[in-house]
Amino acid sequence: MTASTDADLLPMRTGEIRTHGPDGFEGMRKAGRLVAECLDMLVPEVQPGVTTAHLDSLIHQFVLDHGALPATVGYRGYRHASCISLNHVICHGIPGPRVLKEGDILNIDVTLILEGWHGDHSRMYAAGKPKRKAERLMDLTYEAMMAGIGAIRPGARIADIAHAITAIARKNRLSVVEDFCGHGLGRLFHDEPNVVHAWPLNQTPDESSKAWRESPELAPGMFFTVEPMLNLGKKDAAILSDGWTAVTRDRQLSAQFEHSVGVTEDGVEIFTQSPKGWHVPHRVGE
Ligand code: MF3
Ligand code: CO
Ligand code: CO
Repeated sequence: MTASTDADLLPMRTGEIRTHGPDGFEGMRKAGRLVAECLDMLVPEVQPGVTTAHLDSLIHQFVLDHGALPATVGYRGYRHASCISLNHVICHGIPGPRVLKEGDILNIDVTLILEGWHGDHSRMYAAGKPKRKAERLMDLTYEAMMAGIGAIRPGARIADIAHAITAIARKNRLSVVEDFCGHGLGRLFHDEPNVVHAWPLNQTPDESSKAWRESPELAPGMFFTVEPMLNLGKKDAAILSDGWTAVTRDRQLSAQFEHSVGVTEDGVEIFTQSPKGWHVPHRVGE
């Protein structure tokens, strides 16, 4: 056993937003790529007739087979390698005996730790052919996430990400969930900043708005997730008695996509891009 150096110790949350150098980017690229490969692996596996527990077991095995650990196992008492959220489930759905039916839509969210770095990524999948309104919700949620990511550059604020997401939701008469946020990550799973996804559109995202001025400013080397949840109906969420599963109160459909990103000198790097270009699984094979 060798003496530990500072770099071996897990940092504490400080309340400040951490910034990272080239080693951090390299670590996040590897972790991000692996979790994207894991979600690519699931594309042909999501079919009517399979259980969400089976998908979770494939994920767990894939993560271990590639020298990583599932970050969610043992996290605040959670026991699975993924969250699988079907139809009206917003997020944190627990894998189990539920059998996928034709037309179900589902978010699969995996966080793994590779060489100490966290890759956190989720996509929407469909079992068989989704209904038109479900497909539209998934497409627009992806578009909203990418618009949020497109607002990231040094000097922009978290508010700009939320504003871009909310503008797309509003234009399409969808609502943005406010109860769950993106988060800083790196050697920690959940760190500063808190990444809100919703923003009041009557406030212009500029210096004239107090809320904008108080929103964290982005700087090179910050790592965080963008993971908006959009609903066909109202934004309101409820937690089921299992203590985890978040559902829409009106039981209408919800969708979510998540990328882990880093702020660069002149923009943003997405760590969790699909190597196969399967970033929108319900469109694969069209
Ligand atoms: N991966 C989720 C996120 O995006 C967190 C899941 S925590 C769990 O932050 F315990 F529910 F798995
Ligand atoms: Co996350
Ligand atoms: Co996640």
